[in-house]
Amino acid sequence: MTQPRRILVTSALPYANGPMHLGHMLEHIQSNIWIRFQRMRGHTCYYVCASDAHGTPVMLRSLREKRDPVEIVEYFRKQNSQDFADFGAVYDNFYTTHSDENRELSEFIYTQLRDGGHITTRTITQFFDPEQGMFLPDRLIKGICPYCNAEDQYGDFCENCSRTYSPSDLKDPYSVISGSAPEKRDSEHYFVKLADFEDVLREWTGGGRLQSEVVNKLDEWFTEGLRDWDISRDAPYFGFEIPDAPGKYFYVWVDAPIGYMASFKNMADRDGLDFDEYWAADSTAEVYHFIGKDIAYFHTLFWPAMLHGAGFRMPSSVFVHGFITVNGQKMSKSRGTFILARTYLNHLPPDYLRYYYAAKLGAGLSDIDLNLDDFLLRVNSDLVGKVVNIASRCAGFINKRFDDTLSGTLPAPELYQRFADAGEPIAECFEKREYSRAVRKIMDLADEANRYIDEKKPWVLIKDEKRLNDVHQVCSQGINLFRTLMVYLKPIIPFTAGKAEAFLNAGELSWADAAQPLLDHKIKKFQPLITRLDKKTIDAMVEDSKEDLKSKDVSGNAPSEFGPEITIDDFAKLDLRVARIAEASHVDGADKLLRLKLDVGGTERTVFAGIKEAYEPEKLEGKLVVVVANLKPRKMKFGTSEGMVLAAGPGGEDIFVISPDDGAEPGMKVK
Ligand code: MSP
Ligand code: ZN
Repeated sequence: MTQPRRILVTSALPYANGPMHLGHMLEHIQSNIWIRFQRMRGHTCYYVCASDAHGTPVMLRSLREKRDPVEIVEYFRKQNSQDFADFGAVYDNFYTTHSDENRELSEFIYTQLRDGGHITTRTITQFFDPEQGMFLPDRLIKGICPYCNAEDQYGDFCENCSRTYSPSDLKDPYSVISGSAPEKRDSEHYFVKLADFEDVLREWTGGGRLQSEVVNKLDEWFTEGLRDWDISRDAPYFGFEIPDAPGKYFYVWVDAPIGYMASFKNMADRDGLDFDEYWAADSTAEVYHFIGKDIAYFHTLFWPAMLHGAGFRMPSSVFVHGFITVNGQKMSKSRGTFILARTYLNHLPPDYLRYYYAAKLGAGLSDIDLNLDDFLLRVNSDLVGKVVNIASRCAGFINKRFDDTLSGTLPAPELYQRFADAGEPIAECFEKREYSRAVRKIMDLADEANRYIDEKKPWVLIKDEKRLNDVHQVCSQGINLFRTLMVYLKPIIPFTAGKAEAFLNAGELSWADAAQPLLDHKIKKFQPLITRLDKKTIDAMVEDSKEDLKSKDVSGNAPSEFGPEITIDDFAKLDLRVARIAEASHVDGADKLLRLKLDVGGTERTVFAGIKEAYEPEKLEGKLVVVVANLKPRKMKFGTSEGMVLAAGPGGEDIFVISPDDGAEPGMKVK
């Protein structure tokens, strides 16, 4: 075996504004398999994460709910980290970016960059929402991507073409908060001169450390030229204030990756570790970040540049994965395929998903499909039918006929040796994150073990008293082959491996254990390690996922069930009226809005309503609705909206217009 290594592994810090879903789990399962593998090989491997507290999503929620943002972050930090832990991804530290350590490190890194001459300031013209009274954070502006013309893209990043840009590059911008067309106002901003780091970044990215797809993307970015990176945001902003610039805050993507260091720092102080051993410029330890392909730009350009500019080491590598689809499509709330981590855990054991993801994960950036029928087949045929079957066919005889004791020699040592020799090639697959190849190798061995038992037929031999010794030998061979497979599968299915360890009664399995069989050894009574998965369980999980969107927070509603309390006076401020939809029509260029002409008892009002995905305009004409009649008219991209029509539901296809019973008259007050 190689020298023990010192490794630090991180997963991307999830935004602290919602529950985790099976898409997020891909990353945490991928990184967790890797760290478990490294630890089984005898290496030191720390594993840290945190909640990404700052920036728009939490600020938005805090404004909406009038709650302290820190309270919101803490709520999701606890919930998210519990989800990960219950999937086996137990972090050595799961911290928050809203911490003293992170503030200090962010200030330090900024100051180093500034003193090194890498910060510049410039007045930029920026969008301002006059209704909300604030500059619009990137995520609160939407519009058309300047590069690929995709509609409804955020102000900083296009989900269609993965490019980043500044919000003022967007075409036809609108404020996500108020829908109004934002005004341009001047503001001084702080920038990192990324081009200062071009040479060092080219060297870093060219060092063979990154995946080829990522290198290709980087080459494109280098060719486009490295633009200054805007790292400041104006108050009000939830984040850290820039030391020498009152009223200016670090953009969330400054302190988010520094959150990796801060989480490690917090753990190092807690556990007496040496921070510099991992982060100093001359560190010989390894640092790896597991991330999704949507955030590669931040991790392969900005982050190494910041580290280098501040005198720290750069990451050993950044491991980028693709996205999860379910049944071949983007996860969908109405189809029940937007499956929350918790909903999955309420129905199914974590190892099944861990195994399925591993069986499909390569080292590349391709997306991965969670096909629920295939999932069921895979788990049943591989884990239940192949692996556990080996033990269940052999254990009973050892338990009942041989006093729980394995034989002193093996009848087929060369077969055992082949299993042991497979350890290194399989380890190489794990090391390179070629988990699907590792799984294929392991399942080939499982087939071989089953063939051996099929051939020897201990259940036939046992009928002949003279062949008892053969039964003992064959079953001991079988248990030992099973044990070897469990060593190799342990990073993937740690819960099942834990049960196997209890059954084998020889302590925790390490990778090196595969080299030697267990002989003359007392095992425990065999308990079923894993149960067959049935379709009903999966159907129930899908049904529950449909329920989730009705009852719980899926995409960013309040964690508490209802909004903040209001008084009767607050309520009385609303002038709610019955109206009849006189005319409903599509709006050119809008994919969510319909234009409604309303008859409010003799007065005509035009209202834009986000119900296009749920209603055909023709079907709405003549319908009675309830309208907020005294809402301040709002200038929108497509015209002015003079009121709001009440509707229920999370949005998209699932939105239901509230309609008074027949007999109500347009203009009537709603009380
Ligand atoms: N907060 C930032 C990361 C900061 S890291 C310094 C962020 N958060 S996130 O919650 O939006 O995403 C967290 C991780 O989950 C990202 O790596 C992202 O790519 C990954 N995924 C989110 N949805 C996913 C799928 N559907 N499939 C696979 N991974 C996905 O980005
Ligand atoms: Zn685009």
